[in-house]
Amino acid sequence: MRVVGTFAGARSLRAGITGLVPTMGYLHEGHLSLVGIARERSDTVMASLFVNPLQFDDPSDLDRYPRDFDRDAALLELAGCDVLFAPPAAEVYPAPPLARVVVSGLTDTMEGPRRPGHFDGVVTVVAKLLGGLQPDLAVFGRKDAQQLVVVARLAADLSMPVEVIGGPTIREADGLALSSRNVFLSGEERRAALGISRGLMAAADAAEAGERSGAALEGLVIEEMSRQALDIEYAELADAADTARLLVLDRPAFLAVAAGSGRTRLIDNVWLKPDGTADRGARLGRPSVLYGGGD
Ligand code: PAJ
Repeated sequence: MRVVGTFAGARSLRAGITGLVPTMGYLHEGHLSLVGIARERSDTVMASLFVNPLQFDDPSDLDRYPRDFDRDAALLELAGCDVLFAPPAAEVYPAPPLARVVVSGLTDTMEGPRRPGHFDGVVTVVAKLLGGLQPDLAVFGRKDAQQLVVVARLAADLSMPVEVIGGPTIREADGLALSSRNVFLSGEERRAALGISRGLMAAADAAEAGERSGAALEGLVIEEMSRQALDIEYAELADAADTARLLVLDRPAFLAVAAGSGRTRLIDNVWLKPDGTADRGARLGRPSVLYGGGD
């Protein structure tokens, strides 16, 4: 695997179909599964590692974002990555950007109003990565459902010659969705956090059993989360095309939640089809590499 710090250097290493997996590092099996998807579809697999200051609405969240470059590089190499683009901030933002990408509509719900400026920061850096690295395809996690919808729309609306692909959510054996932020959870906070995935699975069960009411599906998640010491922000059934709130599951959708456990803010979701079929993601059979418990 080659490690490069410039857009031009990374671009010059493309050979054949090139797949990109953008990340902010502190990698876990969720990120690595996206590398696996890119590997199947590409001749050259590139990952980017950049903690993008523009998308952090809370400066203390940026300061405490976990980082471990050597570990990330080793995991990427094992996962079959060919090129790691790990730029210094000055390569990505040589000057404060005056041209930025702004998304409307899709960001009026869920994460948008709660994290002002966040999605504009995400799409601006994603536009720079797609423009500067020029991959043929880019893989994003369905774990960040609204982000995936926003990025797919960015590429479509700006006629970017890239295919945006969504990968399933990877969970720990007990259901907790993998997140770089999980390392901040105490044992007690982690137990409470399990209410999130339990609630989503209960709602997925109900959808599969025929429930189509948005309020009923949302209520099931809230009910389960309320049993734990969680700071519930929202549970919303959202249209997968435009993220608008759905009253009835009559088109492709995702049921998304955000909740705080202690000081850590977590998001999770299940994707639902109008026939009630649920995409709940996939569970690991062993402890995540996040906790140094790999092999
Ligand atoms: P980051 O949070 O590092 O996530 C990188 C990618 O991994 C995203 O596409 C995210 O959806 C995916 N991912 C995270 N947890 C996952 C899980 N448990 N299962 C499957 N995929 C998972 O998202 C970002 O970085 C940034 O916003 C970025 C797109 C890199 C722009 O800065």
